[in-house]
Amino acid sequence: MNVMIVGKGGREHALAWKISKSPYLDELVVAPGNAGIEQIANTMDISQDDIRGLANYAEHNSIDLTIVGPEDPLANGITDYFSRRGLAVFGPSESAARIEASKVFAKDFMKRFHIPTAGFLTFDNAEGAIRFVEEHDFPIVIKTDGLAGGKGSVVAKNIEEARDAIVHMMIERTWGDAGKTVVVEEFLQGTEISVLAMTDGDNAIILPPAQDYKRAYDGNNGPNTGGMGCIAPHPMFDLELRKITMDEIIIPAIEGLKFMDSPFKGILYAGLMITSSGPKVLEFNCRFGDPETQAILPLMESDLLEMMLFALENRILEADCQFSDKKSVCVVIASGGYPKRYKKGYPIEGLGEISTTSEENVLVFHAGTAQKGDSIISDGGRVLNVVGLGDDFSKAINNAYSMAGKIKFEKSFYRKDIGAKYKNA
Ligand code: AMP
Ligand code: GLY
Repeated sequence: MNVMIVGKGGREHALAWKISKSPYLDELVVAPGNAGIEQIANTMDISQDDIRGLANYAEHNSIDLTIVGPEDPLANGITDYFSRRGLAVFGPSESAARIEASKVFAKDFMKRFHIPTAGFLTFDNAEGAIRFVEEHDFPIVIKTDGLAGGKGSVVAKNIEEARDAIVHMMIERTWGDAGKTVVVEEFLQGTEISVLAMTDGDNAIILPPAQDYKRAYDGNNGPNTGGMGCIAPHPMFDLELRKITMDEIIIPAIEGLKFMDSPFKGILYAGLMITSSGPKVLEFNCRFGDPETQAILPLMESDLLEMMLFALENRILEADCQFSDKKSVCVVIASGGYPKRYKKGYPIEGLGEISTTSEENVLVFHAGTAQKGDSIISDGGRVLNVVGLGDDFSKAINNAYSMAGKIKFEKSFYRKDIGAKYKNA
């Protein structure tokens, strides 16, 4: 098969690494890719948002399957458009992707199908939203209805923060039309776990659950980021929790979407808060997580491409789906200043010492990198993902951090506490 992956981050490097091992594969192309992906696949300079350009490429180059990494093209109907042109895509339709692309849709959907989630109200005018939060206890959570590059949710600790968030979203329109409507929801306390399920629209297979470290600095301090690290599988996610998640969240969501004529094929990602009264959904995503994918795929022993083909043929339960017993820890190396202002273009040293085979229990997936002459330079906020594997978390952590310590570029930083809590788990 000829396969195209759409995207340019660490998630897409991990997908490309895994797909490139498939016996089904002939040619792999990634559009647009990054400097790490270039080492293992062909890359094509087509923007991930240029749906027509991607379809033209797929048609002219006999691409048999396109795998979409990021949410934006899915929310913008890449799957529907490709299907109309007779091209196969792994990823949900535009109408199924609303589960991520519209928080109002997702919250109403969860209410309708009795999927546990935080209590909420929806507002389409700022005055009403402000009046409501003024009479509410804190913290409280305010979310833009639409996609805002992962920055559309604010946990407000007091009335000033709540008012600021509403003004930014609804009046100043920092996120454009995404902030036309907001959801104000109850603050949930507990442990966050990302559960990714591969579904064929009827059934699902749950991948090893992961924990994303969203804050920029150690001890979960500093601003929210796209993710500074990840561990998998999550030690807290036992068989009982798995069963509750499947029966009360994943299957009802799949059946609900099917009932609404929006069957979901692809990766349904449930961001859960494990509260004292069980798991509740913070958000659904319609795609692989980043950096969750970088930690999860190195644990997968089965053929990812074959699993995707089974999902597309409505036979996901027939797919062979084996995971190793190892633990995985992903550390993100970022540019100084991220997630706020940062500089790009610094040469990266130490990459040459690292192979991208998992035999040594270390992998490096590139995110914001570019090739400049003979060197690889930083080209984004999150630059590299170093993944350590081991028989226990302690070994996985050591493997990840001993490699992370060898990689250097100006002003780089990374969290030192990824997985630390589970060292003895
Ligand atoms: P979201 O964009 O909905 O995934 O939210 C981003 C992050 O905000 C989540 O990963 C949580 O850390 C936090 N968050 C969102 N909703 C809530 C909530 N209801 N209670 C507590 N934290 C939340
Ligand atoms: N790691 C969070 C996300 O992929 O949305």
